[in-house]
Amino acid sequence: MTEFLSLQNRVAVVTGGAQGIGRAIVELLAQRGASVMVADLTAEKAEGAAQEIAAQTGCKVVAHSVNVADSASAKAMIDSAVEQFGKVDILVNNAGITRDNLIMRISEADWDAVLDINLKGAFNCSQAVIRSMMKQHYGRIVNLSSVSGVSGQAGQTNYSSSKAGLIGFTKALAKEVGSRNITVNAVAPGFIETRLTVNLPQEIKDISLKLTPMGRFGKPEDIAYAVAYLVSEEASFVTGVTLQVDGGMVM
Ligand SMILES: NC(=O)c1ccc[n+]([C@@H]2O[C@H](COP(=O)([O-])OP(=O)(O)OC[C@H]3O[C@@H](n4cnc5c(N)ncnc54)[C@H](O)[C@@H]3O)[C@@H](O)[C@H]2O)c1
Repeated sequence: MTEFLSLQNRVAVVTGGAQGIGRAIVELLAQRGASVMVADLTAEKAEGAAQEIAAQTGCKVVAHSVNVADSASAKAMIDSAVEQFGKVDILVNNAGITRDNLIMRISEADWDAVLDINLKGAFNCSQAVIRSMMKQHYGRIVNLSSVSGVSGQAGQTNYSSSKAGLIGFTKALAKEVGSRNITVNAVAPGFIETRLTVNLPQEIKDISLKLTPMGRFGKPEDIAYAVAYLVSEEASFVTGVTLQVDGGMVM
């Protein structure tokens, strides 16, 4: 019998996989037996993470440099994964940025950068992989949304829009490809301790903690566990959902 939540013989691509939540996802998918491509902005960053995780898990973990906002770069990433592994079963659209500011102060460049990376990036990578997933009649796509996309967050009109957009994207694509045995889901983290959140003002951290019934901030592993379930064989009847992993912050 196969082990529960095993990812033996599966191939995964994780964008933004070199640090934070993405790295925790790469580590867990590799521990479950998957071969993984760590795709991130620079080759050096991705390479360091890939080497360490390959050594820890004994699994095949390779690095690739990608800018998900660029469709040609996203396509080259998927082509390279198919060339090295023969297929891609799992895509985790995790790469994301913030450029927080009040609406009066958000520049057009900061609006565009957030939407281009967070939302268009998921579109670019999903579009690049979908044909091969349809052909093989198997696929798992997970998009990293946020509670900011569910409830909205002052100072984050750009980020909240991108993350809410990802929820709509997830549902639309889930309906489009379900008949091909491809599931598409989103995970909406609450406040997770990573480099993305480390420099937030203490006041925001205090408010976030107060709003979290579980009484603590999340860890990258909390999100990785949810992703590992959604990409598993066992989650084959779960599609179009947004799983909030937020310690109860938004309900
Ligand atoms: N940390 C949190 O509290 C939190 C909460 C909700 C949602 N999220 C989401 O989870 C995801 C991961 O967040 P994190 O906290 O680990 O962030 P992080 O900043 O620690 O890591 C993000 C990674 O994405 C990479 N990246 C950025 N732009 C890219 C691009 N154009 N192409 C490829 N890679 C790119 C970065 O190099 C980095 O390695 C993001 O989508 C984020 O919005 C995080």
